[in-house]
Amino acid sequence: MHIDPLEKQWAQIVLAICGLFVTLIIIDALFHNITTPGNVETIDSASLHLSEEFAEDNLGVHRDENGNVSVKMVAGRYSFFPKEISVPAETNITFRWVSIDVLHGVHVPMTNMSTMIVPGFVAELQTSFPKPGDYPMLCNEYCGLGHDHMWGRIDVVE
Ligand code: CUA
Repeated sequence: MHIDPLEKQWAQIVLAICGLFVTLIIIDALFHNITTPGNVETIDSASLHLSEEFAEDNLGVHRDENGNVSVKMVAGRYSFFPKEISVPAETNITFRWVSIDVLHGVHVPMTNMSTMIVPGFVAELQTSFPKPGDYPMLCNEYCGLGHDHMWGRIDVVE
């Protein structure tokens, strides 16, 4: 088979560039410890009701003896559970979210709270509310026909 010398030259250049990239990726992986995300927390969405943390009567706001506030929340078509919570303002709060069915999201305007809630995984994030008031929790991942009506409410108090 005849290959034009110029074409052959270009093919070699392209192969050399590909080889260079692969080599760089390997070097990077070896010396800079590239791994898949290792801090991903998984959970069985089908048996949330049997898990201690996300059992129905454990959902909502918790305050431990050191004053730390945490919130356990479940997202499911088409609501957040519990649908209304009350938390203190100007306090660092740890939210832990799980989905009971499909992919959801949660967005709370005016805060840094915006995350996907992927079935099978726990989404944890920390936020604080600068001032008292009513904050909506909105689902921001399309999850079905009722997506537009999937919301909840956070009552932030002094
Ligand atoms: Cu849940 Cu959109």
